[in-house]
Amino acid sequence: MDWEQVFATRQSRMKASEIRELLKLLDQPDIISFAGGIPDPALFPKEAFANAFADLFSGLQAEQALQYSVSEGYLPLRDWIAGQMRDIGIDCTTDNILITSGSQQALDYLGKLFLSPGDTALVGWPTYMGALGAFNAYEPSYDRLDPASNRSAADYVASAEEAGGEVKFAYTSSDFANPTGITLDERARNALLDLAESLDIPVIEDAAYQGLRYDGEAVPPILALDIQRSGGIENTRTIYCGSFSKTLAPGLRVGWAVAAKPVIQRLVLIKQAADLHSSTLNQIAIHRVAKDGFADQVAKLRDVYSSRRDNMLAALEREMPEGVTWTRPEGGMFVWITLPAHIDGATLLAQSLETERVAFVPGRAFFADGSNGNTIRLSFSCARPPEINEGIARLGRLIRSVA
Ligand SMILES: Cc1ncc(COP(=O)(O)O)c(C=O)c1O
Repeated sequence: MDWEQVFATRQSRMKASEIRELLKLLDQPDIISFAGGIPDPALFPKEAFANAFADLFSGLQAEQALQYSVSEGYLPLRDWIAGQMRDIGIDCTTDNILITSGSQQALDYLGKLFLSPGDTALVGWPTYMGALGAFNAYEPSYDRLDPASNRSAADYVASAEEAGGEVKFAYTSSDFANPTGITLDERARNALLDLAESLDIPVIEDAAYQGLRYDGEAVPPILALDIQRSGGIENTRTIYCGSFSKTLAPGLRVGWAVAAKPVIQRLVLIKQAADLHSSTLNQIAIHRVAKDGFADQVAKLRDVYSSRRDNMLAALEREMPEGVTWTRPEGGMFVWITLPAHIDGATLLAQSLETERVAFVPGRAFFADGSNGNTIRLSFSCARPPEINEGIARLGRLIRSVA
């Protein structure tokens, strides 16, 4: 069978990345890894989950947990999320919330909802590579989302027409973005809404890291600013994607989308067709753990991750040669490094794995056009202070040797 002949055209955009191949080497025990953008498993609320599962299996809820359920998601969990959303200025009801299997599924569904082949998605330059992966299946073009530039709405429209479609949405990771760690301030969020209004397109707000702020003032979510402008969630154009992956546990695959009802109703139809609903058992467990211990869990994460971030920033200050710059995130998991123009992040990774045994993610994969090869992403979430000091010292040595 010649499988390539029978695959749909959209599959041509879905390629295994060479970076993933390199990163497979990370299982080797002597490697210091700043590569994975994942939570530290030592910090998972294991006991709370053990109790939640034991408790629900010892009672009548076991039958509900093992049964099919509604596509919208487990109502008490949606109710709890609605309360959390209201606390950050997003006045909504359970009807504005869909539970998804991770926020990654929401990104896939939003691609399916909005993108016809050739349409344009506006994305950051760089942006979350998983969003590019999700949208790619719908065969879009990408254009650079840069509300601070002087580009007019007409200019975005003209570029989209040239690419064979229309501008369909702007996607942004508003807090402690993956990969840069950067947070959009309120002015930038309003500028983005202005641009979206003049293009009359939705904004997809990826809030995967929003709860993990270590210092500085919280900035209202774009959806909250949109509600302030428009008078209520039913008049908004922003779709907020949240996740329990970075705070409670990614393995349970529970995330959510918040938006005006017509959008949620469409997403519910997509979910019905795709997987009926997210795991009932996992939603119930997440609800039990969140309602009793979410704030304490997040406080614990902030405490540990903020000191790892401080540690990494101090080590970079000590070890990096002139010509290397980096971001100073107020939260999340990532520091984004810009190397001198002639150093390629992917080549550096190959050298680093061979000689220094330090892993990171080369930056090119986060750019829709594969540009800006002289960048790398470091994650501080899983490394202990001695590893951070040693790993950054080795990386600094390698960069000095090729600079
Ligand atoms: C910015 C961003 N959005 C979404 C996701 C997907 O997370 P999940 O599907 O586990 O909620 C990730 C995961 O790394 C991410 O970094």
